[in-house]
Amino acid sequence: MIPTVAPYPLGRSRRLRRNAAIRDMVREASLASSDLIWPLFVREGENVAEPVPSMPGVFRHSVDRIVAEAERALALGIPAVALFPYTPDHRRSCDCAEAWNPDNLVNRATRAIKRALPELLVMLDVALDPYNADGHDGIVKDGIVLNDETLDALERQALVQAEAGADILGPSDMMDGRIRRIREALERRGFEDVAILSYAAKYASAFYGPFRDAVGASGALKGDKKTYQMDPGNSDEALREVRRDIEEGADMVMVKPGMPYLDICRRVKETFGVPTFAYQVSGEYAMIMAAAQNGWIDEEAAMMESVLAFRRAGCDGVLTYFAPRIAERLRAGMGG
Ligand code: PBG
Repeated sequence: MIPTVAPYPLGRSRRLRRNAAIRDMVREASLASSDLIWPLFVREGENVAEPVPSMPGVFRHSVDRIVAEAERALALGIPAVALFPYTPDHRRSCDCAEAWNPDNLVNRATRAIKRALPELLVMLDVALDPYNADGHDGIVKDGIVLNDETLDALERQALVQAEAGADILGPSDMMDGRIRRIREALERRGFEDVAILSYAAKYASAFYGPFRDAVGASGALKGDKKTYQMDPGNSDEALREVRRDIEEGADMVMVKPGMPYLDICRRVKETFGVPTFAYQVSGEYAMIMAAAQNGWIDEEAAMMESVLAFRRAGCDGVLTYFAPRIAERLRAGMGG
C-alpha cells in the first residue's frame, strides 16, 4: 500500500497530533487487558512470596499465594496465567520424571486455580528444563540433546497437565515433531478442547537469563540451547517453523523473545493470519526495570510503549510480566 498524502501545506501531519483526543481517535493499535497472558512462578511452601532478584517486582509464589495472584488477574480482566515451577533440586533428574508427576508444582497449582476460578485460563509450558538435572529442554545422553526420546517425555507431561485442568499447553522446547505428537495424544485421550499455543519461532537468546534464575535452571545448564532453538540471524526459517507447527495442529503460535523480533511477529501474522502472540521475556522486563530503577527511563511509559509495540507489529496478544500493572493502568483510563 502506497500512502496517499496531500503536499504541505494542504496536508499537515501535525493536525492529527494536536491534542490527546484527536491522537486517541486516529491511533491504529490498541491495548486491552484481554490481550495479556501473565507468566507466574510457583514454588513449594505455604504463604511465601520470594523475590526473584534479577526481576524486580516478580516473585515465586507458593501454591496458596498463586491462587490469590490468579484472582487478581481475573479481577483485572486478564484472561490467562502461564505457570512456571521452581522445582526443588532433589526433584530434578536426568530422566525428568518430575515433569509427568501429577502432583508436581504446576499441576497442583493448576488444580487449585481451576477449583477456585474455573473461568480463568491456565497455560502450562510443555518442556523439560525445570525438571532436568542437565538444565536442557530435552533428554541429554552423552552430551547430545535427543529429539525423539524427548517426544515420549513431552507426551507424558502434556497428558498429565491436561488431566490437571490446563486449558492451554505451550510446547516451548523446539524439538521437531512435538506438536503433532502432543496433539495426537490429546485427541486420543479425549482432551480435544485443550488448545496448543506453540512456541513456534523461539530463538536461542541471551534474553532468557533472568527466567533461568527464576526457575533455578541457570546453574544446571551446561552449554547453550543452539542445537534446538533458532539462530537469531534467521527470518525465513521462522516462517517454516510456524508453518510446520500449524500443520501439526497448533491453534496459536508465538514468537519469542519479543522486542528484538518484532519483524518476525509482523511476517508471521501477515503470512499465516493465525492467532499470533509474542513473549516479552524476562531479559526484556529486566532491562526496562533496571533502567527505570536507575532513573534513566520512565518506567510506566516504557512499559506501556513496549507492549503496545507488539500490537502494532500484528500480535493478537502478549505474554508479559507487566500484565497486572498494564491492566491496572488501562482500568484507570491511562491507555497506550
Ligand atoms: C523453557 C522456557 C524458557 C522461557 C520460557 N520457557 C527459557 C529457555 O528456553 O531457556 C523463557 C521465558 C523468559 O525468559 O521470560 N522451555
